[in-house]
Amino acid sequence: MSLVTLKEILKETREKKYAVPAFNFNGYEDAQGMMNSALRMRSPIILMASMGAARYIGLKQTVGMIKGMAESVDIPVCLHLDHATDAAFLKEAVVAGFTSVMIDASKKDFKENIEITKEVAAYAKKFGCSVEAELGRIGGREEEIAVDDASSALTDPERVPEFVEKTGVDALAVAIGTAHGFYKSTPKLDFERLRKIAELTSCPLVLHGGTGVSETDFQTCVSLGMSKINVGTEFKAAYTNAIRDAVAVNETAEVDPRNYMKYVKTKCEEIAEGKMRLFHSAGMA
Ligand code: G3H
Ligand code: ZN
Repeated sequence: MSLVTLKEILKETREKKYAVPAFNFNGYEDAQGMMNSALRMRSPIILMASMGAARYIGLKQTVGMIKGMAESVDIPVCLHLDHATDAAFLKEAVVAGFTSVMIDASKKDFKENIEITKEVAAYAKKFGCSVEAELGRIGGREEEIAVDDASSALTDPERVPEFVEKTGVDALAVAIGTAHGFYKSTPKLDFERLRKIAELTSCPLVLHGGTGVSETDFQTCVSLGMSKINVGTEFKAAYTNAIRDAVAVNETAEVDPRNYMKYVKTKCEEIAEGKMRLFHSAGMA
């Protein structure tokens, strides 16, 4: 199938009570592992490149690779640029063929966040590309974006309808107590806040900082109307550990990189499958 937009892939999530898994990839093997699981589980999937990953792989190369994967399967696949803080780079990604982009102006004040997001959304729409934005400030570290505890801020539900209406976004990342990266202590999610937000808007909601969130917390989020769940660090660590382990057991003269890299695929497949079951996206493609 051709790549689909975020708007398209999320459209039935609330009604059917599932969340589409959104995974950060950094190369071919992890992305292919995620795709293999989606196909096996009949789950829609959102493959996300951070600005760092898209720069590392190359924008056109990223689109070419994921488009090729999507075209060889019969399940919905969306290619998303994650946490773009640079509007010029985001626009290049739109032109290159990403079907979804996230503008992250969460460090700006409410009014400026609206202005920046609105401008980007109007641009992306001309290309048939979806837009996600963030309201509130999610803590932790996501590559170059660092938000310490003091500057993180939970989403104010009352501001959500105005933000969605004025910006025209297709999905909204909300801060309800998760953080990017590995948790230092167990996260405490504010489900009452999520319930309130979901009551106030029909805009699909996005949970960031999925690494380390408990199975029951994920399931509660899905039952309360979360439509997209992002997981990144868990895959990054699995990618690196898979290579490290493969090298450790192969101290011989093995020179075929595939005999190391194939473990990245299988490890990512395993993690992705678990998330698809938890998010109830399995069987929804
Ligand atoms: O945008 C990416 C996600 O929010 C990933 O968060 O690395 O903590 O899983 P994570
Ligand atoms: Zn995030």
